Amino acid sequence: MILEIVIFLILSQLIFGLFLWYQVRDVYRYPNSFGFPVIGTLYDFYKGLSFMSLHNEYHYLKDISDRVGNGLYFAYVKGRRSVILSCPYIIEKISYNQSAAEKDPNTYGTVNPLIKGIFTYCSNDSEYKLRRKEVNNSLTKSLIDGPYANTFKRIGRKLTEDFVKNKDNLDLVYYCTNSALSIIKETHFGVENAEKNEDGRFFKVWIWILHFATLIFSNPLVAILFTFTYKIFDKVLMKKAHMLQAELGKSVKKHVRNTLKDPTAAPKYSTLSVVISLRNKSRNLDKFETKKELYELLLAGSHTAGTVLITSFAFMATLPEIQEKVWKEQYEIFGTSDRDPNIEDLKKMTYLERFIKEILRFFSPAFIGKVTTAEIKVGGVTIPAETVVYFLLGKAHMDPRFWKDPQVFNPDRAFEDQPKYAFAAFGVGVRSCPGMTYARQELKTIISIIIRKCKFFSQQKFEDFKYESHLMQEIVNLKPVRVEEREYLN
Ligand code: HEM
Repeated sequence: MILEIVIFLILSQLIFGLFLWYQVRDVYRYPNSFGFPVIGTLYDFYKGLSFMSLHNEYHYLKDISDRVGNGLYFAYVKGRRSVILSCPYIIEKISYNQSAAEKDPNTYGTVNPLIKGIFTYCSNDSEYKLRRKEVNNSLTKSLIDGPYANTFKRIGRKLTEDFVKNKDNLDLVYYCTNSALSIIKETHFGVENAEKNEDGRFFKVWIWILHFATLIFSNPLVAILFTFTYKIFDKVLMKKAHMLQAELGKSVKKHVRNTLKDPTAAPKYSTLSVVISLRNKSRNLDKFETKKELYELLLAGSHTAGTVLITSFAFMATLPEIQEKVWKEQYEIFGTSDRDPNIEDLKKMTYLERFIKEILRFFSPAFIGKVTTAEIKVGGVTIPAETVVYFLLGKAHMDPRFWKDPQVFNPDRAFEDQPKYAFAAFGVGVRSCPGMTYARQELKTIISIIIRKCKFFSQQKFEDFKYESHLMQEIVNLKPVRVEEREYLN
């Protein structure tokens, strides 16, 4: 009897493996785990079901793509037929193909319950175009060079004050995340003067509930369930997610409510939050849908820029020569003046521009996921419709075939000599980031203001940093830094 069950299980698994392999035979590449198509496919399928965090998902994708070099490879990820790629030539081809313009809502599975907006979603073309137009309207050059630039400068100055006030023990994650949030809140949500949030309170309560519930039920399954929810935010995201949630719960909600009540009380800037709320209201969508859409915009616009700020100062603190080069360029432009940078000044900051690019090479979003709506032929391979396509930006940015000594942080490297799209921190093609110009101006303005006033020191060494891949790649063991005030400014 037992023997029959074992034979039945083995045979059924082989048939299942054959079925899986048959579906992907066109995009399948040797060698996989065992060199045998059916068994290897089956093995990958089960392995691809097991991860919970974005970090594990990224490493699963990266390990598979490492097996076959830098190209195009099939795998089952979370039980779905997927193609993994990190080759700039293929990324370029696919990113401009309308049949691969749809986002895969499940890519960010662990944070998915919280978000549903243009960054991760939009399954229908006209719906997408409407939303993209709304976002583009709030990111025009005249807004960025005009009122938004004032916000960048004011928050940059406020951040400088905070840095100096906390100079002996500066928590970069807290201050930079809050500043990036204040900026997006003010420019896109019409809310000024962001108040500070209590750091981590939500998660302290959440972890307390977790332990309490596990204790009461004393059931390992309950524990696993709670661990899973806890994992939603991974280590670093936990802190930031709390700040973002608190924002929506408080001032943004209030602002939207007030504006809807009295549309004549016109907000100062483009208030995308109101546009989105009104659109959803006219369609009778529930408040939760609106909240998820707003939350996603807040995340797309602040978590990204905030991470770049954190890592910029952390890297400068551990790489003093590079910090001095960034400062020297500022000195050449401003001398001893502490005036705010204008557009012409920003254009002259070519070293800072390269520094930010190099930070983005290290800390870009680890991967993005699209799904094909029709068959696509690329590099002699046919990718069937309904296949998830993963772009491993994190891997492409560290590929030694395109980048000399990729683990070395070197703002002097010749970005222009790389193949097009070997650097793709803002994505490529039809769904690429609409916030690129905004983000670059925001980052340059803030770093310019701060580096003229502050010099950073760290007890850590550059080699000590450990990284994890979440929505962005992040330093997970960052300790507080020390700041010394530069005293040469008038
Ligand atoms: C350093 C900062 C930033 C980085 C690295 C970044 C990166 C990205 C990437 C990789 C994508 C996906 C591209 C694709 O699917 O091919 C994206 C999309 C998007 N980003 Fe950014 N982004 C940044 C800042 C911003 C800012 C400041 C905003 C808004 C003010 C923003 C709004 C969006 C939106 C709305 C999308 C979805 C676009 C669409 O699907 O059509 N991003 N971003």
